Amino acid sequence: MNNFKALDYQAKTYIAGLAGTVPICSPDWAKLEQQAVEKMSPEAASYIVAGAGLQKTIDNNRSGFDKFQIVPRMLRNVEERDASTRVLGLNLPSPFMLCPIGVAEMVHPDADLAITRGAAPTGIPYIFSNQASFPMEACAKEMGDTPFFFQLYWSKSRDLVANFVRRAENCGAKGIVLTLDTTFMGWRTRDLDIAYLPFLQGKGIAQYTSDPVFMKMAMEEAQKDNSENHAHDSAEFKKIMGMACVRLFTQIYTNSTTTWDDLAFLREHTKLPIILKGILHKDDAGLAVEYGMDGIIVSNHGGRQVDGAISTIEALPSIVQKVNKKIPVMLDSGIRGGADVFKALALGADAVCLGRPHIYGLTLDGAEGVTEVIRQLQADFELTMALAGCKNVAEITKATITRTL
Ligand code: FNR
Repeated sequence: MNNFKALDYQAKTYIAGLAGTVPICSPDWAKLEQQAVEKMSPEAASYIVAGAGLQKTIDNNRSGFDKFQIVPRMLRNVEERDASTRVLGLNLPSPFMLCPIGVAEMVHPDADLAITRGAAPTGIPYIFSNQASFPMEACAKEMGDTPFFFQLYWSKSRDLVANFVRRAENCGAKGIVLTLDTTFMGWRTRDLDIAYLPFLQGKGIAQYTSDPVFMKMAMEEAQKDNSENHAHDSAEFKKIMGMACVRLFTQIYTNSTTTWDDLAFLREHTKLPIILKGILHKDDAGLAVEYGMDGIIVSNHGGRQVDGAISTIEALPSIVQKVNKKIPVMLDSGIRGGADVFKALALGADAVCLGRPHIYGLTLDGAEGVTEVIRQLQADFELTMALAGCKNVAEITKATITRTL
């Protein structure tokens, strides 16, 4: 698991070329996105690739990385390389995890199950989405020794929040990632343009429909609609129940009244580390420390929430300074290669999270596509690190980059 070697992987790719084989998932991730989009339905392409408003945050996430440039150092003996790191008490073979991405069933029938099967052999942790297409327990079984987290949206039902967290603990999650930036869905112009939202078709709500607390509430709703008293095992009632689940989900899945003080409720209900995802302001990072949180993920949700938001890489330095190593700082949104991972680490992130590209791998080649995309990022990062003159993650310091624009 930990013995992945970038040069072996690179050589294997070139040697396969002698027999006329090229990678199914392009290592050129601009092309990877195009390949995936060609295979997706228009609805999936809009929901997965696009973001909010004029898509400026998506643009910022990329141009933000361009503002920092790596300054490689020479003659530093980088023959023995170690890309591993330790974050939140876990050994990571490379300094990244997989982001939670909901509704993966839009691109592959095995959805999250295939992602877990793709991630497990690499040892790269996966954050299970609250909007997954398979229950966390089913995915947990596929992860083997590879760690996983559960990402939570704060529901209007506290009982449901408590039960999600209990289930995550019971199935072996290493932490709860609480996403803060989605008190509502952003103004997602491309989805609105085609008037499409996957949840309304019952997609991406498996964590709910596998939950006894949610299903009890849904049953009560369904009973209200069952004026003709259909038997519970009848096709008619199942349809009513399906609609009740979707309606209830849309009513309770987020809670915009939540404040910092609500974190105490979560703390009371779990011993697992709590990681806040969606932090962009240094003062919020400071509050995360003050409120006893165990980590943060600097994220703008891949540009799907606030259009025109600061890029995460530009938000990072002031956050790192504020946190002052008291808790781990991770970053997502816009990671598209080893250089981005390197830059984030140089600016003080402990690790990063990989978003859309692993879904593109899933689209193109299922679990194997996910593994492939992970391997590509591992290889790219290891080579970038070594070619910049660093043998290991600890050597990636601020001195290795410059801000030029
Ligand atoms: C997401 N993201 C997300 N985040 C989260 O906390 N829970 C979720 O269920 C989802 N679902 C989701 C679906 C889709 C289609 C996308 C593209 C994103 C956000 C995700 O975790 C991460 O923050 C972004 O994907 C990072 O941006 P990039 O790197 O993908 O551009």
